[in-house]
Amino acid sequence: MQWGDQMDIKEIYQNMDYGTAPESAEEANAWLDKNNRIFGHFIDGEFVSGTDHFETINPATGKSLAHVSQASSADVNSAVAAANRAFKEWRTRSGFERAKVLYALARNIQKHARLFSVLETLDNGKPIRESRDIDIPLVHRHFYYHAGMAQLMSKELPNRKPIGICGQIIPWNFPMLMLAWKIAPALAVGNTVVLKPAETTSLTALLFAEICAQSGVPKGVVNIVTGDGDVGDMIVRHKDVQKIAFTGSTDVGRKIRQATAGSGKSLTLELGGKSPFIVFDDADLDSAVEGVVDAIWFNLGQVCCAGSRLLVQAGVADKFYSKLVNRMKKLRIGDPLDKSIDMGAINSQAQLDRIKSMLSSCAPSKITTAETTMPDDGYYHPPTLIRNVETSDTLMQEEIFGPVLVSTTFRTPSEAVALANNTRYGLAASVWSENINLALGMAPKLKAGVVWVNGTNFFDAAAGFGGTKESGFGREGGWEGLMAYTHPVNVPKEPADYSTKKTTPNRAASINRTYKNYVGGKQLRPDGGYTKQISDSSNAATYDIPISNRKDLRNAVEAANKAIGWSSSTGHLRSQILYYFAENLSVRADEIAALIDTFQPRGMSGVDEVQATLETIFECAAWSDKFDGDVRNVPMRGLALSLNEPIGTIAAFAPAEHALLGLVRMIAATIAVGNRVIIFPSEINPVIAGELIQVIETSDIPAGAVNILFADHSDVAKHTAMHMGIDAVWCEETEAISSMIEEHSATNLKRTWTQVNVATEIREFLDHAVEKKTVWIPWGEG
Ligand code: NAI
Repeated sequence: MQWGDQMDIKEIYQNMDYGTAPESAEEANAWLDKNNRIFGHFIDGEFVSGTDHFETINPATGKSLAHVSQASSADVNSAVAAANRAFKEWRTRSGFERAKVLYALARNIQKHARLFSVLETLDNGKPIRESRDIDIPLVHRHFYYHAGMAQLMSKELPNRKPIGICGQIIPWNFPMLMLAWKIAPALAVGNTVVLKPAETTSLTALLFAEICAQSGVPKGVVNIVTGDGDVGDMIVRHKDVQKIAFTGSTDVGRKIRQATAGSGKSLTLELGGKSPFIVFDDADLDSAVEGVVDAIWFNLGQVCCAGSRLLVQAGVADKFYSKLVNRMKKLRIGDPLDKSIDMGAINSQAQLDRIKSMLSSCAPSKITTAETTMPDDGYYHPPTLIRNVETSDTLMQEEIFGPVLVSTTFRTPSEAVALANNTRYGLAASVWSENINLALGMAPKLKAGVVWVNGTNFFDAAAGFGGTKESGFGREGGWEGLMAYTHPVNVPKEPADYSTKKTTPNRAASINRTYKNYVGGKQLRPDGGYTKQISDSSNAATYDIPISNRKDLRNAVEAANKAIGWSSSTGHLRSQILYYFAENLSVRADEIAALIDTFQPRGMSGVDEVQATLETIFECAAWSDKFDGDVRNVPMRGLALSLNEPIGTIAAFAPAEHALLGLVRMIAATIAVGNRVIIFPSEINPVIAGELIQVIETSDIPAGAVNILFADHSDVAKHTAMHMGIDAVWCEETEAISSMIEEHSATNLKRTWTQVNVATEIREFLDHAVEKKTVWIPWGEG
């Protein structure tokens, strides 16, 4: 029996095989025909005819579906201009008014759900069962959820405002779902958008444009331009676009990071992954096998968070592999519109070639392929398992983005953690064990933005999704997703002044001082032995300030990364230590205030700055054990926990002014939530940091949690941004240094925050100091 042949009921009973159950493409074809199978762009509420058309192919047949247009720079400019005009009105609408529009979108997508599903399957190649039961239901769920967010924003986020025009660039693996993830939160909080779908899957975005026009979306609020990466690049570089949200490959993410460096644009990147799927020997193996099917053969493994690295505990490996191979053989591949198939077509010939070329490097003896019948035309690939792959092997490290599972075994839970984290990515992880202590204990140890316990590939609008390391930064979904489309309102340029007149006499010490770096709990001379001398305004004393180099930076990173215990310490302990730090600073308040006055002839007085600093430390101490995560209301029996985890090692460039307050805000906020920090003090007034070291030394802050390096900021900024052992960089710097930091952070796609301002609320500092992790815990039997 060949695929596509219809069986009658008698034959089915005789063979005990599935017949075909094709979904009709009639309505989708009628929609394509109505548009003469040729599309332009959706700009300012209207379809405009495009030029330079290219084919969009049905991957199931390799045949042309329609022609879409490659946008020109004039098209992109007019889309951005329309978004700009629309922003002025849309942002001022009440939440209720915006909520009504999002609700209408949700309803209309739901109404046309079948058309969207079929069109998605025709253009993408994914099984209709997935587009109908997963993608499109999640799309309208996203619009409903964000209708609620629009309604609540003014009351729940009174201190946030929309960013402006958002450029949104999405991939081909979940075309409509990624559109919803991007457009719904952006619109909810009052932004306008210019979205570019992937070149191979533009059709559902164009259908969505039609739905916008029917749903009361004001013209210019949503603009859709089609085309390839060049069009994406034009959006990224457009001077009037204030935020870029990108989902796609890590390579393109890196290019976008570089292209936006120094531009002041907000950026979120949701990139690739090589997510571990960990099976312990006490797991329910049959459930775990079904889990693997969902992890790597759902959407043919073309999923950024696909469980593409199987790690099985050695004792059950043979049994598990045998069950898995049996299951693999039963997967049915065929016409994606057939409701009885499990796997459809790979999205494009190029992607199929990429998968095959990656596989060609592997010894055939390691590869098991299900010998399933496949259609003759179109782009198909059978489910594939590769066993005994070395951890360093390209197949174990690189994203294949196809139905190919690589695997290896482990012996102990700690080995499982080490193997799972041995990747440049950090998007998701799945853990299988019937031992609740073991399974839940793994969640905080895995470096990933999402952890699924005894499950995989759960998504919901209420639960944050996004990665760490080279899987990108920023979250989509939930409150954290919304934050990425907002800015704080009215951050003053200066901290609230206690008073501006000096209240302390100038009592700078008259004894010369020599300061050292503070690394790993020790005061150390700089590696090169160089120092520079500065004197106070009265020339009563001189101060020797170290000049650090790359070696000092390396040592500080090593010390910070060794202090990993600080990241798992309790909030209670961290708050006690911060209070003690404040106590010790207050003992030296007069002396430090006098030094501030000596080097900071204008602005806040020394006494006031010390007071503000003590208050900052108290505020951070207060938050240490209160910066809670929460539980998200996802439509599942179980819990989705949203946890605040430390990012790791943060390097921070203290502001030039407010040498004490600026420095301590960065230190206290980073360490309050468990990060380790390497801080470069103010270049104008490094003396304060020299004195602060002595306060830190006596405050029980563990060695390596706080490291202070004196340096010329422009000398070390690039190396800091490029250092693979640093997870985030903060600064309040000149445009040149910020831009250097953003550009070079692309090496390992570390998070950057270059808008730090001493007057920024501590809450905002803390939001920047944590990584959100969503942990999904289903419950119940069967
Ligand atoms: P891609 O990253 O090139 O494409 C994603 C989107 O970015 C598309 O809309 C594309 O037109 C756009 N784009 C490409 N270059 C751009 C640029 N310089 N500036 C702005 N936008 C640009 O992904 P591609 O080539 O389609 O797939 C290659 C590999 O990327 C896959 O094999 C897979 O490993 C990975 N990938 C990962 C995805 C994820 O969700 N993590 C999604 C798609 C691809």
